[in-house]
Amino acid sequence: MNPSWRVFPERQSLLAAAMEIIRQCEAASTRTFSIVLAGGQTPLELYRMLAHEPMQWHKWRVYFGDERCLPPQYPERNSFQALQAWLGQVPIPAEHIFIPAAELGPLEAAASYGATVCEAGEFDLVLLGLGEDGHTASLFPGHDIGAGQDAPEVLPVFDAPKPPPERISLSARRLSRARQVVFLVTGEGKREAVARWRRGEDLPASKIGAAQGLTVLADAAACPREFEEKGDSR
Ligand code: 6PG
Repeated sequence: MNPSWRVFPERQSLLAAAMEIIRQCEAASTRTFSIVLAGGQTPLELYRMLAHEPMQWHKWRVYFGDERCLPPQYPERNSFQALQAWLGQVPIPAEHIFIPAAELGPLEAAASYGATVCEAGEFDLVLLGLGEDGHTASLFPGHDIGAGQDAPEVLPVFDAPKPPPERISLSARRLSRARQVVFLVTGEGKREAVARWRRGEDLPASKIGAAQGLTVLADAAACPREFEEKGDSR
């Protein structure tokens, strides 16, 4: 599925656009609004902004696209970072924040989180990042990313090239079971991965789809020059 690419001069306007998409998705959702969070530095800035937004928090159901197999209070945990930056400061009931028990190790955690996300149905919105090597969530190049029709909901990851090696990740199939998917991509380090994605190379990120909209929000620093000159095309 070809994403719609939107390029922003700098990070702040990109984050404002991401916030606008979140507002629209929340408004379009009926009884509940289910969102899958990404790890990484760019989403974290968005989470800090969300802590000050007036949202209909009672509707929110929060899931995590991937998690590191570390004790719950470790600062490297995606869930810990999101709790500190945002979730701990807004009135979302704790039982609506679905944190993977990643401390149990990849196998047990993947099985238990698989059962959790199995009940979630189609996600309203999935947020994702892009790694320098084209990974997304904890789906790494050269690994099984669970893109097939029979792929499990959640994969155990044992030898991630980005530390720590033990993680769990929603599979490509499960991440794609979403109305909207939005990638947040910033910084010069992503230029090569963006160029490869645009060339149609086989990367974990390029295997993600969505029911209604697949959007990449990128800053100019992350975009190869020729792409920048052409502007917001494709
Ligand atoms: C993780 C992430 C990972 C991340 C990318 C981009 O937990 O490591 O889910 O996929 O989103 O590596 O991270 P940055 O936004 O920090 O570059």
